[in-house]
Amino acid sequence: MKRLSVVAMVGLLLGCSQVQKVEVPKEKEQKIAQVGEEASMKLLKGLRMELMNAMQKGGLDEAVTVCNKKAMEITSQVEKETGYSMKRTTFKYRNPSNAPDKYEAEALKYFEESIKQGKMPSYYIQALNENGKVVYRYYKPLKVEGVCLTCHGDPNLMDKKLLEKIKTLYPNDKAVGYKEGDFRGVVRVTIPADKI
Ligand code: HEC
Repeated sequence: MKRLSVVAMVGLLLGCSQVQKVEVPKEKEQKIAQVGEEASMKLLKGLRMELMNAMQKGGLDEAVTVCNKKAMEITSQVEKETGYSMKRTTFKYRNPSNAPDKYEAEALKYFEESIKQGKMPSYYIQALNENGKVVYRYYKPLKVEGVCLTCHGDPNLMDKKLLEKIKTLYPNDKAVGYKEGDFRGVVRVTIPADKI
């Protein structure tokens, strides 16, 4: 048992060390941004449509169910359509599977630092060499809008039943307490270099 876990750990360490940050070719930047923006908008539009439909049809309860059950489903659907892997990630996450990896955390910090300096860049791009294969990561920043506060706002102002349901589904929820205009996180789109 002990030996197995050591083997597993070494495997993990080796796995991690095989991802390396590389330079983003300057001449590719515009194309990456265009492809990344298009794909991330597809995901955001899909999510928003489902959310609005659910809120109109079944109210808040239904809407939380959509975010809970359908967010991943919609994401895989758009991934299949576009051929690019995608994720929504943030430091203050509701679902722990949306927690950032090392490179996503770097992108989140880049936006946070820029905002501190009074700037809001429209994207961030990274290039990673993953086991000899280069991929580009496009990050689109997300802002909190009025409608988001229903489920991500000040817990004291949120619908009690809704908050209870969220707490039951996500006991370690960090995604409340936002205000309109706050930086919420990013959509990450991973594009294989040979597609650009
Ligand atoms: C009806 C409630 C509801 C509304 C309204 C809502 N969300 Fe969420 N949001 C959720 C739930 C539930 C999750 C967790 C989804 C999951 O399990 O993957 C979530 C997850 C997220 C995530 C993924 C990161 C995380 O915290 O796990 C982002 C980013 C996000 N929401 C942004 C927004 C934005 C921006 C808006 C407004 C345009 C919004 N949400 C509106 C309920 C809501």
